[in-house]
Amino acid sequence: MAKQVYHDVVIMGAGLAGLRAAVEIARRLEGKADIGIVSKVQLMRAHSVCAEGGTAAVLRPEEGDSFELHAWDTVKGSDFLADQDVVDRFVHAMPGEINQLDHWGIPWTRDASGRIEQRPFGGHSYPRATLAADKTGFFEMQTLYDTLLRYRCFKRYDEFFATDILVEDGRFAGLVGIFAPTGETMVFRGKALLIATGGGGTLYGFTTYSQTVTGDGMAMAYRAGLPLEDMEFLQFHPTGLVPSGILMTEACRGEGGYLKNNLGERFMEKYAASKMELAPRDMVSRAEQEEILAGRGFPGSDGKPYLHLDLTHLGADRINKRLPLIREVCMKFLGLDPITTPIPIRPVAHYSMGGIETDINGKTRLDGIWAAGEAACVSLHGANRLGSNSTGECLVWGAITGAEIAAALGKLAASPAVPAAQLAAAEDHWRALLAQQGTENLYELRRALRTMMDDHVGVFRTGELLAKGLVIVRELRQRFAHAPVADKGTVYNSNLFHALELENLLALAEVTIVGALTREESRGAHARRDFPTRDDEKWLKHTLAWRQPDGSPRLEYKPVTITTWKPVERKY
Ligand code: FUM
Repeated sequence: MAKQVYHDVVIMGAGLAGLRAAVEIARRLEGKADIGIVSKVQLMRAHSVCAEGGTAAVLRPEEGDSFELHAWDTVKGSDFLADQDVVDRFVHAMPGEINQLDHWGIPWTRDASGRIEQRPFGGHSYPRATLAADKTGFFEMQTLYDTLLRYRCFKRYDEFFATDILVEDGRFAGLVGIFAPTGETMVFRGKALLIATGGGGTLYGFTTYSQTVTGDGMAMAYRAGLPLEDMEFLQFHPTGLVPSGILMTEACRGEGGYLKNNLGERFMEKYAASKMELAPRDMVSRAEQEEILAGRGFPGSDGKPYLHLDLTHLGADRINKRLPLIREVCMKFLGLDPITTPIPIRPVAHYSMGGIETDINGKTRLDGIWAAGEAACVSLHGANRLGSNSTGECLVWGAITGAEIAAALGKLAASPAVPAAQLAAAEDHWRALLAQQGTENLYELRRALRTMMDDHVGVFRTGELLAKGLVIVRELRQRFAHAPVADKGTVYNSNLFHALELENLLALAEVTIVGALTREESRGAHARRDFPTRDDEKWLKHTLAWRQPDGSPRLEYKPVTITTWKPVERKY
């Protein structure tokens, strides 16, 4: 018998977007409504704590920055696929979020006069990345959680592994999953659900994401009948530490760090002379890949070439004050001190521009369901996100969805009874996984998926590589049915959770590849060698992927909202 729990609002995911939404609902509805926050990890282990370099906002209009400039940088960075009304709303909301966090006690880095500091970031034409050293995400999370603790209207459900969103008559009817410590089935009922589960970057082997980030919310929404938008656009961050993939923040270059090849050249001069190392990420990653392919990399300990991120000219004081985490990570993971030695890096899977389609208010097409943060695609980033715009998106659309949900609660109908057949189907599915027989190994399949994504759906793509990747992912889906879950127990059955996560990743891989194969152009992070130019006539449109009964995606397209800037050639 499944345990049923009721909260007016259920928030799935306890990262920046989820916590910001919870605070917003709590401050508006304390005493009138309550919130359940479910997370598959313990709250402060959400991947948002790993955000490093900063959060973009216009704080110095009197010194030359402006909303128009931030909006233009974002639209140009997106290769004109961002919805411009969304961008406009974002840039206007950001200063308020920075100041709000300040009032809530975040330790923003300040200069000698006490003024909040900002640093340069790639693709921004003004230094507007607001920082808390190089641990910005951690301090934002800590501040939001501290703030939430002032309220009593929420309850945490850590280590709840959600598997299915229940939907009845086009509206939210429950969130079902497994409480990891006991193996018990739980159903969260409520009037509203916010999906804030983050991205799906562990599709790749070489990635900055925590191993827990497996696109579960996106895959659940897709199965529940919601479209995924623009999933072919996956960001490669230029500086992943080799061989682990740990993020070497863009702030390293914002503070003045260089990228160098094996000839000691600052190669960005050839690719983006005006911005150099601070060109947008898609361009820097492509430049790195070109250097590597031309044989100008260094031999990597993992068998693949790398380049240098050189901070040695910055000096110990700057590195210790502004990049302490980077130094600590380099020393702990490689025994290398960046004060004296360049850091080995290469492009690394970092961010999903795509996600669950929402409107500008974070509302999905199902009644009672909103999505925010990286799990969502409100269409702020288009084909390429600018660094330091993602923590900002989590804050702004956490606040917006929180306010929207708070306003809608009075009008939403009471939560329906749990649809028994859907609940039974979810439990049957787990049982079927536990009963699976065969000689395949889940972890080998997961490795094969990640190797395929690294090799076939990387910085540069071709139709041939993508088509082969699609064959592999479909084979992996079939082989998955013959991979037993060895642990049959109920307590913390991480083996079962890994199987469920792999199913989610396989679904997202297929959507990503089908979208990428179909989009015959190059735009932002989607760089096709066989279609090397942007084609606005045919492809200035968003991809929507709907799940068909056999599990494969059906694609549709919808227009980009252009309010101010018509697409032009993107030069830096
Ligand atoms: O490089 C970084 O610190 C990452 C920031 C971001 O993805 O926005």
